Amino acid sequence: MAPHDAVLGWDEDATAEAYAAFTHDFPMYSATSRDLALRARLTNSCLVVDLCGGAGATAEAILTLVPRHARVVSLDNAAAMQRVGRRTVRDPRLTWVTARADELAGHIPAGSVDAVVCNSAIWKTPVPAVFAAVRQVLRPGGRFVFNIGGGFAGIRHEDERATRTGPSLNRLIHEIAARDYGYTAPAKAVGPPKLSLEAVIAHLSAAGMDLTDTEIVAQHGTVAEKKAWLSIPVFARPDGDFTHAQRMEILTKAYAQTAPETPTVTSWLVVVAQRPGARP
Ligand SMILES: C[S@@+](CC[C@H](N)C(=O)[O-])C[C@H]1O[C@@H](n2cnc3c(N)ncnc32)[C@H](O)[C@@H]1O
Repeated sequence: MAPHDAVLGWDEDATAEAYAAFTHDFPMYSATSRDLALRARLTNSCLVVDLCGGAGATAEAILTLVPRHARVVSLDNAAAMQRVGRRTVRDPRLTWVTARADELAGHIPAGSVDAVVCNSAIWKTPVPAVFAAVRQVLRPGGRFVFNIGGGFAGIRHEDERATRTGPSLNRLIHEIAARDYGYTAPAKAVGPPKLSLEAVIAHLSAAGMDLTDTEIVAQHGTVAEKKAWLSIPVFARPDGDFTHAQRMEILTKAYAQTAPETPTVTSWLVVVAQRPGARP
């Protein structure tokens, strides 16, 4: 993909390396992964799937909770992310599968999985097909735990409303891009969120799974963390015809107008679902 005309994708070494460095330096993905892994109740599990596992931050959280004899499969369609994961997360219980999430059932025997955990990714996938695949691989009583970014789920945690922050980096980025590059942001789409809880419930039911629990959780960070996150090529802004270097130049100018330790809050909708039935 030409770096000039699009935000770099997941299957790019630059994204994979920057993403792994971010997860090492800041708690966002390790903390959300651990939260999901705990909710999956992995103590007696034999086989766990880390769906859309990327460079392995979620697999690492899972591996701390599963028994010694357990196996963990990390599945992702971005080989570049998994190359970093293979190098940095070394555990004999972990194997890597490069495939799309909706292809899961083609790689794992039906009814064999105790839990599927998916951190920070489900709304990027074809949800009905993925839920059907998850249902197929789960054993009776097996858990499916995932989260949805607040903006995509159409929810906000109380703390996000209550925390007084300065101007958002995103807003400053768009203002600076408009001022220095004549950038016009596309009109904000109005309409339903990409993956609301109502849609999740309908898709789970269609796939033959039960909703067990939901919670809106807040993740607390700083503007410094947000700047590091926006430096990962796949997340760099604004969209449109910018090089990564231009995006970083805009980000640097925007960041200079903020106080690094200003608190930020990210909201997540956490969902726990289950394949009906008791453990055989
Ligand atoms: C934000 S990362 C999360 C990675 C990991 N779960 C973590 O917490 O660090 C999103 C991941 O979803 C993967 N992804 C997106 N759509 C996918 C799909 N349809 N099938 C498989 N992987 C997908 C991307 O390649 C990327 O590695």
